[in-house]
Amino acid sequence: MFYDLTRKLLFTQDAEWSHDFTLNNLKRFANTPIENMWRQSVEAKPREVCGIEFKNPVGLAAGLDKNAECIDAFSAMGFGFIEVGTVTPKPQDGNPKPRMFRLPEANAIINRMGFNNHGVDALVSNVKQAKYNGVLGINIGKNKDTPNEKGKDDYITCMRKVFTYADYITVNISSPNTPGLRDLQYGEALDELLSSLKNEQLDLINHHNKQVPLFVKIAPDLDDIQVEQVTSSLIENNIDGVIATNTTLDRSDVQHLQYANEAGGLSGAPVKEKSTNVIQKINQLSNGSLPIIGVGGIDSDHAAQEKIAAGASLVQVYTGFIYKGPNLIKQIVNSL
Ligand SMILES: Cc1cc2nc3c(=O)[nH]c(=O)nc-3n(C[C@H](O)[C@H](O)[C@H](O)COP(=O)(O)O)c2cc1C
Repeated sequence: MFYDLTRKLLFTQDAEWSHDFTLNNLKRFANTPIENMWRQSVEAKPREVCGIEFKNPVGLAAGLDKNAECIDAFSAMGFGFIEVGTVTPKPQDGNPKPRMFRLPEANAIINRMGFNNHGVDALVSNVKQAKYNGVLGINIGKNKDTPNEKGKDDYITCMRKVFTYADYITVNISSPNTPGLRDLQYGEALDELLSSLKNEQLDLINHHNKQVPLFVKIAPDLDDIQVEQVTSSLIENNIDGVIATNTTLDRSDVQHLQYANEAGGLSGAPVKEKSTNVIQKINQLSNGSLPIIGVGGIDSDHAAQEKIAAGASLVQVYTGFIYKGPNLIKQIVNSL
């Protein structure tokens, strides 16, 4: 009820303005009595994945809280885990505005934000200030002006800086909005990146005496052969898990709608099936040995169950959460 009205008002405004306005207020009023407006108690449905205890299997997907400014506010809504970022070593502005568009007829969003973020040091400082003690994933990327050949150094810089604050780290190589980033998903470039990051992870585990699993986040637009190659590369390099999927470039389901031709990644209902198919394939190819976080178009308990049936151990929401609000978390958790 409360979110219905909030959404109605926010949807009269520009998408990114609404996002910033909401985050500013969540940040400002977190840990105050006003937090009761969005606080809800969600049943405990514990899951263990990669040795981490999740209080329930429904997480906040990366990109909503890029700078980790609202961890406590999202925790109060009952998420079982929160993924912040994508963060890059240096702060960057991202692409020119407008760069976020709602497609309400399709329960979808197109964005070409381009990793706008305040940089990894600012993110770490925000994480330190949060009172949250649940599971925190930190999603890392590379700066736009770093060439792909040096991309590995950006990921390593971020890994080193976030390692002691993260319960898991996500390597994002699937955003369509950083030119060339998705090329890191293929062939030698992928193997080289993953083996370097694995070595770095092992060094950091030894050094800090702390296990922090590495997840790799992939695109929904990989064909069957590419999914096979990515899966074997993940397994060969002992990567702990995979997040499937990011946004899609495919516009076939929304062609007739306003903003459909805007450049960027499409999320929400139109990516649901594609992401479920990728999850299913990875699960089959890995014989269920690779932990999968399923994300893409989850907007109901039924959609979350489809991801789990396809092989996901945990799920995340972004666009469905924008359209449905915090009640979606409770609805999904209750059903699992
Ligand atoms: C506005 C917006 C910004 C996003 N930014 C990021 C990001 O920085 N890093 C990332 O890994 N995914 C990002 N995503 C992708 C989501 O985390 C998610 O993988 C994708 O949207 C599919 O899930 P959904 O259909 O529930 O939105 C973003 C999505 C949206 C809509």
